[in-house]
Amino acid sequence: MASTGTYTLPGGTWNRLALSYYSTPIFIFVSVTMIVVWLIVTHIPTRRRLPLPLPPGSYGLPWIGDTFSFMAASMSDVGHRKWIESKRRKYGPFFKIQFMGHPMVMMDAPGGNKFMFQNEAKYMDTYWPPQVPALLGPDSIFMMAGEEHRVARRYLARFLDHAVVSQYFERVQTRAVEHFAEHWEKKEIEDSDVFVTAALDKTILFTFSVMCTLLISMDEGPQMDELLSKFSMWSRGFLSLPINLPGFAFYDGLKVRRQLLDLIGRYITQRRAELTEGPGSNPAKPDMLTSLLTVADDNGELLSETKIKNTLLTFLYAGFDSSSTALAMTIYYIAKNPHVYDQLVQEHRSILEQKRRKGDDEALTREDLSAMKYTWAVIQESLRLQPPVTGTFRTAKTDLECNGYSIPKGWTMMWNTMNSHHDPKFFQDPSTFNPVRFEEPPSNLTYLPFGGGPRACLGNEFAKMEMVVFIHHLMKRYKWTLVDPEDPVVRDPTPRNQNRTLIKVTRITL
Ligand code: HEM
Repeated sequence: MASTGTYTLPGGTWNRLALSYYSTPIFIFVSVTMIVVWLIVTHIPTRRRLPLPLPPGSYGLPWIGDTFSFMAASMSDVGHRKWIESKRRKYGPFFKIQFMGHPMVMMDAPGGNKFMFQNEAKYMDTYWPPQVPALLGPDSIFMMAGEEHRVARRYLARFLDHAVVSQYFERVQTRAVEHFAEHWEKKEIEDSDVFVTAALDKTILFTFSVMCTLLISMDEGPQMDELLSKFSMWSRGFLSLPINLPGFAFYDGLKVRRQLLDLIGRYITQRRAELTEGPGSNPAKPDMLTSLLTVADDNGELLSETKIKNTLLTFLYAGFDSSSTALAMTIYYIAKNPHVYDQLVQEHRSILEQKRRKGDDEALTREDLSAMKYTWAVIQESLRLQPPVTGTFRTAKTDLECNGYSIPKGWTMMWNTMNSHHDPKFFQDPSTFNPVRFEEPPSNLTYLPFGGGPRACLGNEFAKMEMVVFIHHLMKRYKWTLVDPEDPVVRDPTPRNQNRTLIKVTRITL
């Protein structure tokens, strides 16, 4: 999924607002009001008699608490880790903070994560900042909770199960071959066997194109370019303050959401016509749109057009950004670790040699995919160090008890990968990039790039397949080095190199 677990702040805007704000007497009035609101929000639950103490930690300043320190830390890989580490040193791995006026508990691993995933269906609601439901729509699976979520998930899961991923395998491969021919060979190489490119821009093109195939069978071309540019504008709205006024990314995001829904609507109309005409000259394509239009839900009813539109938009959002940044980060770590590159060469060379003996080194089979164990371990290690989603939030629907503490009704909880992915208790020498560690499965509920429990990623098998296929075709054609090995990893909120993983690429034949 594209990750909304952590949020970035447009620092410039805030600094400007802060300057004018502090220079007026309104500041005193607003501060007093905020203190009163803070006392109500954060202290009423503590006045009620709770069976257990509240988790350790501090509320910090009224309303503000750790909002800015957490958001600022979330903008960089190192910052986020340091923030968590300093809290853990003070309070232990299970602690409370105050975030945007809400008391919030950071869950520990594995105990807190287990508690959250086991109980969320019954005792928790989703929690998203207001811009997320506005941009995704109320029909998005991300907004649903409890029984509504369970039913929707069971319906949607069948469109991404093992059998469906197998069906898409060939089409993803074709996209990969076309992608390298079109965007690396034709555009970049032409006269030279060495060129410089931003790997992130390439992985964005690839994963977006794959999602367009999966969802609406859209081919690459001007229409897809237009969709990608609209999509980028829409997704900037998620990082904005939820202010629906011209000049704010949220305003533009809402405007573009309407355009995206219109565009999907046109696809729906066209597909309905194809389906009515039957399998004549123009048979309906086997993709998620066809499934949503033809497969009834548990009540025997087909989804409404509004629901189909919002579902497709949700899947585009969930499936594209996370895979593209995960692939770019994998390319980055391979370049930083030449011994990893060498071991990958061995794996892919051996697969290719076997295929060449059979006379075809292009079309991968399911067996080839299963043989790419080290490749998957490399991607997993990259997801450990740079998870596209750092964590997500839920709220308690009732008073809860976890780890010997009370979590009062209305409080927010967050599972957070940074709490376990970098803990030497679970991952020895955690800052070293060491794919071999995945020869043994990580201990339960400590490795969560795809989340966990009843809301774990629905597309994880699909994501694994598309990422492994991409790395195979990359390894087969090129070797690469980082233009700037010190290029820092920032988060917005997905991880990326500041210079979009700029690499110097050399054509090879494996
Ligand atoms: C590297 C790639 C990916 C990562 C790291 C990732 C990560 C995640 C995470 C952490 C969640 C859980 C969110 C929560 O707790 O609320 C999630 C949910 C989800 N993901 Fe992914 N995802 C990836 C790729 C995909 C793809 C390719 C698809 C679709 C084809 C997809 C579809 C979904 C959907 C529909 C959900 C919502 C599940 C629910 O609420 O029940 N994801 N993803």
